[in-house]
Amino acid sequence: MSEMKELILNRFSEVFGDGDGARAYFAPGRVNLIGEHTDYNGGHVFPCALTIGTYGVARIRNDRRLRFYSMNFEKLGVIEASLDELKPDKAADWTNYPKGVMWAFEEKGMKLPYGMDLLLNGNIPNGSGLSSSASVEVLTGFILRDFFGFDVSNQDLALIGQYSENNFNKVNCGIMDQFAIAMGKKDNAIFLDTATLSYEYAPVRLDNAKIVIACSNKKRGLGDSKYNERRNECETALAELQLMVKVKSLGDLDADTFEKFKKIIKSDVRIKRARHAVYENQRTIRAVTALKNNDIELFGRLMNESHVSLRDDYEVTGIELDTLVEEAWKVEGVIGSRMTGAGFGGCTVSIVKDEAIDSFISQVGAEYEKKIGYAADFYVVEIGDGPCVLD
Ligand code: GLA
Repeated sequence: MSEMKELILNRFSEVFGDGDGARAYFAPGRVNLIGEHTDYNGGHVFPCALTIGTYGVARIRNDRRLRFYSMNFEKLGVIEASLDELKPDKAADWTNYPKGVMWAFEEKGMKLPYGMDLLLNGNIPNGSGLSSSASVEVLTGFILRDFFGFDVSNQDLALIGQYSENNFNKVNCGIMDQFAIAMGKKDNAIFLDTATLSYEYAPVRLDNAKIVIACSNKKRGLGDSKYNERRNECETALAELQLMVKVKSLGDLDADTFEKFKKIIKSDVRIKRARHAVYENQRTIRAVTALKNNDIELFGRLMNESHVSLRDDYEVTGIELDTLVEEAWKVEGVIGSRMTGAGFGGCTVSIVKDEAIDSFISQVGAEYEKKIGYAADFYVVEIGDGPCVLD
């Protein structure tokens, strides 16, 4: 038995009295390699699941009670709820994520006969933007399917997770995070067309290089409201374009068509936002081709261009992420570096040659601390599989 499995099963017994009938599970976190803020614009994304994520132990009950405990928030103790009262509640903290998924199953006609005891232990850095909440959502859906035998695919688990996040937790996210987690495949990134949900796995062969994540440790504040603001700006720009061009989403536009018609958009800010959505989508398609051709240098350059566009046109970076990326670009052996996820804080993702990893961490780390006043954290990560039972 793995050390982690033993640890969480033991803790489950301590917290909930005994561990009889309990089962251990895992769902990954995710990092997006390229294709940022394209998923709600009908564009492409290219994320992958990580080997870090959320571990959980769950046990079915014979009543409708729910008892939750997180080893990441031990001070909160056991938080209780009932399947008969599934509503969002600020005081219920992180348990709104598993509760939201239970609510979503019921909304979709899959009635839950019994409650559960659930213990979680995540090793995704907190608030890092590596999708710890989507990881919890997919994990919960996976457990419910395992318990009650619902006829849902992993793709359905992603959609249910997003539905719960949008409608229960009122965060207007796209499908990328839940999809990357539910559909994760070791050593592969997922090239997903968010307009149709058609997807393709692309092997990430980084000979002599690794994916390094730098976590800015910037606490997210205004982030969520700015996220919705960007969505609205894109929706307005699309509506303006649709007066002249027959498109369903910004992702339908190629660069030439966009340049030809962009003047129809009545604000410079919205032109910039739409330009990012259009060019980032095209970049993502090119990046996947580059990777397939083993042209990792081109892939890296496209990552860098993605960051510039997110910084200048989409304006979702901020001094912390810009510092991490701009310092990374100075280090020899860095193939590409960009912010990843929603932005406004969170992480950057870089592809770094093996021999440069130590100097990358020390150089970028030192410059970051000097400029920002506190330290960043670095993680050399691996691409892992989707959710599983820990047997
Ligand atoms: C967050 C959202 C995703 C996606 C990214 C930006 O992670 O949850 O749906 O929009 O931001 O690419």
